[in-house]
Amino acid sequence: MKILVLGGGGREHAIVKALARSPQHPELFCAPGNPGIANDATCLPDLDPADVAAVVDSALDLEIDLVAVGPEAPLVAGVVDALTAAGIKAFGPGLEAARLEGSKVYAKEAMAEAGIPTAAYRVLQDRDESLEAIAASDFPIVLKADGLAAGKGVLICLDEKQAREAVEVFFTEQRFGSTEVVMEEFLEGEELSLLAICDGDRAVALTPAQDYKRIGDGDTGPNTGGMGSYSPVPAIGDEVLAQLSAQVHQPIVDLMARRGHPFHGVLYAGLMMTPRGPKVLEYNTRFGDPEAQAVLPRLNSDLVTIFDAACDPGGLSGLSMDFSSDWAVTVVLASAGYPASSSKGDVIEGLDRAASLAEVVHAGTAESEGQVVTAGGRVLNLTGLGRDAAEARQRAYDAAETIQFDGKQMRTDIATRAVERARQEKST
Ligand code: AMP
Ligand code: GLY
Repeated sequence: MKILVLGGGGREHAIVKALARSPQHPELFCAPGNPGIANDATCLPDLDPADVAAVVDSALDLEIDLVAVGPEAPLVAGVVDALTAAGIKAFGPGLEAARLEGSKVYAKEAMAEAGIPTAAYRVLQDRDESLEAIAASDFPIVLKADGLAAGKGVLICLDEKQAREAVEVFFTEQRFGSTEVVMEEFLEGEELSLLAICDGDRAVALTPAQDYKRIGDGDTGPNTGGMGSYSPVPAIGDEVLAQLSAQVHQPIVDLMARRGHPFHGVLYAGLMMTPRGPKVLEYNTRFGDPEAQAVLPRLNSDLVTIFDAACDPGGLSGLSMDFSSDWAVTVVLASAGYPASSSKGDVIEGLDRAASLAEVVHAGTAESEGQVVTAGGRVLNLTGLGRDAAEARQRAYDAAETIQFDGKQMRTDIATRAVERARQEKST
C-alpha cells in the first residue's frame, strides 16, 4: 500500500512515524517532508501540499492508494475533494466540512445550530459597527479574524483601547485579510484539546492531550503554535471523554451529515473548561501540532487501518482504537525570535544522542552542506515515553538538553502539573 502524507512539520513527522509502525508496512511518501521525515519516507520536497492540481497529478503518477492530509491549508484549498474525484482515497474533510476551521463565522453558526456550548458572540462586518459594539461592551473581550491566520488572528482585548487597536488591525490594516470579525465573550479556565477521528457518521474520540500555547514558563508571553504537550490527561478518564465527545464532536458530525457534507478526518475541539462547564473555543479539522506528537506514539492500533476506514461512510464501525497506558511528554524546541519571527540556518547538534533518549521529531529543519540546520519557528519536538508522567517528562527533557543550536528556546514546565498531581495522589 502506498500512502502520501501532505505537510512537512512535526505533526506530519509524528504521523509518518505512526504509519511506519503499521504491520501492513506501507510504502510512505511525504510532501514536502523534512530531513527527519526523510528517514522514514520518500520526501517530495518540490510538491506544494496546497497546490491541489499538482498533488492530484503526483498521487496519480506515484499510484498512491491513500493520501493523509496534515495541515489545514490543503484542506481549505479543497485537496480532498479533488483527490476523491480522481479516484484516490484521501483522509481529511472536504472543502465544505473544512470550513469549520477555515471560517470562525461558519464554525460559530454551526455550533449554534448543533446546540454546542460556546462563548456568546456576534459577527462584526466593518469598522464602524465594531467601534460601536466595543463602546457598548464589557472587558475583556476576544476579537477573531474570520479566516485562517496560523493561530495569530485571535486578539484578547483587556480594555476599550486595545479593542480599538484590534479593530484597526483587522479592518484598516487588513492584516489577516478578513472581511468579518467575530467578537466573543472572554472565557476563563483550563484549556483542553479533544480530538476525534470521524467517518462521516460517527466521531471516535482519541485519547486526550494537553497543549501549552504560550511561549513562556507559567503560561506567560505571546501565543504560539504550541510549545509542548502531554498525554493522557488524568482528569479526563474514559467516561468523561465519552461524555465530552458526545457534546462537542458527535453533534457536528451529525450536522455535517444532515447538510450533505459528511465529516471525514480529524475533528479537533479546542475547549475551555469553565466553571459553567466545557465550552468550545474553536474547531480545527486536522491533528493538533504538537498534540499529535504526544498522542500518536501511544496508539497501539494500526493507523493505516484507521485512516483507510475513516474515508468510508461508517467505516470506523467495529474498529477499536487502543492506546497504551504509557505517558508521553513532548517538548518543543523553537528558534531565536519565535513566535514574532524565526531564525534560519543555525546548525543543530546532538540529534543522534537525543534519539537514544526520546523520539526525535523534526518540525522546522533543513539540510545544508551535510548538516541539519534550523529552518522555522518550531524546530524540533522531543517526545519522552514512560510508565508515568515523571519518567516520560524526564526522558523528553534529557533529550531536549542534549540538543544544541544558537538561540534555542524551550519551556521548562511542560507536564510539571501532571507530575505534581501524580505525586500528590500517591501521598494521599
Ligand atoms: P482559537 O484560535 O480560537 O482557539 O484561539 C486561540 C487561543 O486564544 C485559544 O487557545 C485561547 O487561548 C484563546 N482564546 C480564544 N477564544 C477565547 C475566549 N473566548 N476566551 C478566552 N480565551 C480565548
Ligand atoms: N496546538 C494547536 C494547534 O494545532 O492548533
